[in-house]
Amino acid sequence: MPAPAAVLTGLGSWLPTKVLANHEIAARLDTSDEWIRTRTGIRERRVAGPGESTVDLAVGAGRKALASTDGGADVVVLATATPDQPCPASAPQVAARLGLGTAAAFDVNAVCSGFVYALATAAGFIAGGIAERVLVIGADTFTTLIDPEDRTTVPIFGDGAGAVVLRAGDADEPGAFGPFDLHSEGEHADLLWVEAGGSRRRLSDDPGDRFLAMQGTAVFRHACARMAESSRTVLERAGWMVGDVDRFVGHQANIRILQATAKQLGMPADAVVANIDRVGNTSAASIPLALDDARRDGTLAPGNRVLLSAFGAGLTWGSTVLRWPDLGQPS
Ligand code: UT7
Repeated sequence: MPAPAAVLTGLGSWLPTKVLANHEIAARLDTSDEWIRTRTGIRERRVAGPGESTVDLAVGAGRKALASTDGGADVVVLATATPDQPCPASAPQVAARLGLGTAAAFDVNAVCSGFVYALATAAGFIAGGIAERVLVIGADTFTTLIDPEDRTTVPIFGDGAGAVVLRAGDADEPGAFGPFDLHSEGEHADLLWVEAGGSRRRLSDDPGDRFLAMQGTAVFRHACARMAESSRTVLERAGWMVGDVDRFVGHQANIRILQATAKQLGMPADAVVANIDRVGNTSAASIPLALDDARRDGTLAPGNRVLLSAFGAGLTWGSTVLRWPDLGQPS
């Protein structure tokens, strides 16, 4: 008997209420609405308010995903690089607040690729018979890592959360995730990192120590090349041609990265699903947030062949595919 597949059965997302528009950033830093829009595709992003944490956002998204389907979850996998505390993981607090009893719960940190890594982890739990139903959440408050004076990172990042419920099912039914393709390249960790605050370099009194440093142009090049490469691999494993893909839901880092990757793949520009204009780069939340927005506005319809591909700090990247299931009316 083939191993059970992880099938999408619930979806939800959650955003902080505070909106930060480009003109508000331009009023404070040496940048402009026009530069941000044309270089990144972002018009506005959401920012967690004081006291609003990654767990709060994850609980919001997780509750909606669970409410959209019957039943709970035996396992919670939280993809995040911004947990509420350095120790312990945040997933157990999310599981407790969602009333999931003593469900297994842990974090996965693959930064902006975290959601695809967490999906693969959940699929492995289901295939191995360890879990029947898994709640996978991508949640980040990346703005807490950003130097408020750094015009190269402030415009890019936003906060948010997205979640899916996966159930054990058959590989050939709509909603089944897989195959997967996952990779990393740690020698380029310093292209996008927070250098201090871990065991290698301890936090000092210099507040600059704890902020994200990004070599944007290099990250841009790696992102396009790796997402295209990984997408080709996963399509080949799935037995799909590029032309079979109806929707490309890539990590929302920069609209130009999404467009360039689609072009490298030979995919029409209108296959690209994008909500980056409204939310910016929300790290691990980006793909499930884009999925939820796209199914609400009808961009994603039952039967669509969907390619997911992510790239992030680490460096990490990964891809998977699914045929979009009928999830009913979004609440
Ligand atoms: O999830 C993964 C996380 N990160 C990413 O994926 C980021 C990937 N990288 C990017 O999205 C782009 O590299 C950026 C949006 C960060 C930058 O765009 P770019 O087209 O690579 O610009 P650049 O860094 O080459 O800078 C072009 C110019 C420079 O000025 P000069 O040297 O040409 O005079 C920068 O100093 O734009 C300047 N610049 C800005 N100007 C206005 C850089 N940031 C800004 C800014 N406003 N915010």
